[in-house]
Amino acid sequence: MAEHWLALIVGANRGIGLGVTKEFLARGWDVVATARQPDKATALHALDSSHPGRVSIQPLDTSDTNALDGFAATLGGKMLDAVLINAGVSGPDHRSASVATMAETGALMFTNAIAPVRLARLLADHVRPGSGVVAFTSSVMGSVAVNPGGHELYRASKAALNSLARGLWGELNARKLTLISLHPGWVRTDMGGPSAAVSVEDSATGMVAVIEKANGAHQHRFLDYTGAELPW
Ligand SMILES: NC(=O)c1ccc[n+]([C@@H]2O[C@H](COP(=O)([O-])OP(=O)(O)OC[C@H]3O[C@@H](n4cnc5c(N)ncnc54)[C@H](OP(=O)(O)O)[C@@H]3O)[C@@H](O)[C@H]2O)c1
Repeated sequence: MAEHWLALIVGANRGIGLGVTKEFLARGWDVVATARQPDKATALHALDSSHPGRVSIQPLDTSDTNALDGFAATLGGKMLDAVLINAGVSGPDHRSASVATMAETGALMFTNAIAPVRLARLLADHVRPGSGVVAFTSSVMGSVAVNPGGHELYRASKAALNSLARGLWGELNARKLTLISLHPGWVRTDMGGPSAAVSVEDSATGMVAVIEKANGAHQHRFLDYTGAELPW
C-alpha cells in the first residue's frame, strides 16, 4: 500500500529487525536498514539485490556515541515515514541486580534505553509531521504493572526505555508525530531462543501492521504486535 514511503529500521541485520525490514519491503515501503557490521549483513545485501534501489544499508553501532549523534545527518534530506529503533541486548547471562557490575549495567542500560531515545530525539526532524510514526522495540518485560520477577536487569532496561519514551513524547507530539512502545511477542530469535511462542514472520507482520495503523494517531501507546494495549 505505501509505495515510496520510507522506513528506518535500526538493528536490521538479523532477528526481529530483519523480519520487519522484509515486511516493510513486502508492503511496498523503501527501507533504510542499519547494521553494526554492514559488510557481514548478508541477509540485508540479499534483500538489496532482490529489491533494487529500495534498501539502503547503513552502519550504526548505537553504543558509539559519535556514530549515534551523527547518524541523523547521514540521512541528508530524506524524510522518514516510520522509524523502528529495534537494536537491543539481553544483558549479562546472570540477569541479576545482586551480582551486576557497573560496566554490565551501563552497557545494558545504554543500549536498551538511553541510545534509542537519544537517537529518536535526533531523528525527530527527519520524520514526516502529521503521519510519521516512531516506534521502539520494547517488551512486556518492561511493564512495571506485570512483573512476576526474574530477568530483572533486562526488565529494568525496558522499563527505563518506556519511561524515557514517555518523557520524549511531548517533543514528538509537538511535531505531530505518533510514538509506539512496541512489544514484538516472545519471538524465536537468537535472543528469544528456539522455544519462543512466535515466529519472526508473524511478529514482523503484526508489528508493521501496528505501525501502519498508528499513522496519524498522535498518541504514545504501549502495544504488542497484535495491536493489544499493554499495562505500563
Ligand atoms: N526475541 C524476543 O522474544 C523479544 C521479546 C521482546 C523484545 N525483544 C526486543 O526486540 C529487539 C530485537 O531482538 P531480537 O530478538 O531480534 O534479538 P537478536 O536476534 O539478538 O538481534 C538483536 C539485534 O540488535 C542489534 N544490536 C544489538 N546491540 C546493538 C548496538 N549496540 N548497535 C546496533 N545494533 C545492535 C544486533 O546487531 P548485531 O547482529 O551486530 O549483534 C541485532 O541486529 C531487542 O530490542 C529485544 O530486546 C525481543
